[in-house]
Amino acid sequence: MKIRKAVFPVAGLGTRFLPATKATPKEMLPLVDKPLIQYVVEEAITAGITEIIMVTGRNKNAIEDHFDRSVELELLLKGKGATDLLNLTRKITDMCDISYIRQKEPKGLGHAILRAKNLVGNEPFAVLLGDDIIYSTGKPGIAQLTDVFDKKQAPVIAVEKVPMENISAYGVIDYKTTEEGVEITALVEKPPADEAPSDLAIIGRYILTPEIFEYIERTEPDAKGEIQLTTALNAMLGSSSMFACQFAGTRYDAGDKLGFLKATVEFALRRDDLGADFRKYLKGLSL
Ligand code: G1P
Repeated sequence: MKIRKAVFPVAGLGTRFLPATKATPKEMLPLVDKPLIQYVVEEAITAGITEIIMVTGRNKNAIEDHFDRSVELELLLKGKGATDLLNLTRKITDMCDISYIRQKEPKGLGHAILRAKNLVGNEPFAVLLGDDIIYSTGKPGIAQLTDVFDKKQAPVIAVEKVPMENISAYGVIDYKTTEEGVEITALVEKPPADEAPSDLAIIGRYILTPEIFEYIERTEPDAKGEIQLTTALNAMLGSSSMFACQFAGTRYDAGDKLGFLKATVEFALRRDDLGADFRKYLKGLSL
């Protein structure tokens, strides 16, 4: 079955980016001139996704406004004859249909995804986390996962090798490599380094099947009161095979200050209109 729908959990409070995120959703922080969330929405659309479900929270209206028409701005740009900017603004709105549902309490990723249950219905779907930005010159990150799903018809999770000193910040998989690919045998959320089953960390791209909702419903909150998707996926392993996809591309942790800065610098360096001047400026720095 073709993946048509994608869930974007965007209710997080963004405390790592205070004070910038006090009144502005972290998903609206820009890499150069485009908000993080738009990069991820474009990734989904390029992969053929046509329906987006955003699980939002309070203070997230700027996301809805960003993907809505801005009649005043359009009139102004039209009046000025700024056709390129007008097209750019309209393109954002015309990209796809987005539904919004609120996660009323911050109770974890599993809980956020469960909020989308009725909107997803009984079909496989993608999940994309806005903190993880994947730059790829080939297929977009999530499209690489849908390719695996097309063959396996089972959940697929993006993974990446990370240094063991950072592993406790991630969900981690245990796995076996067979002719079928990298089959997941266990998943554990944010283990201490000495308990991590491997150095393959879960990155925020998933293709899930609707059975996951039952498993999330049965998952108990952890010590922090959060219902973890990783824990629900681990329980589901008893009844479903699951595959890992070590995607091609560069992943930036844009939810982390250093990761965000790296992404900003590298995206700027790749730009035709800015790259050369910015490179020259960086080389000349003597801080
Ligand atoms: C979430 C998931 C975690 C995954 C990570 C990827 O954690 O729970 O398993 O490794 O995203 O970014 P978060 O970073 O939201 O705490």
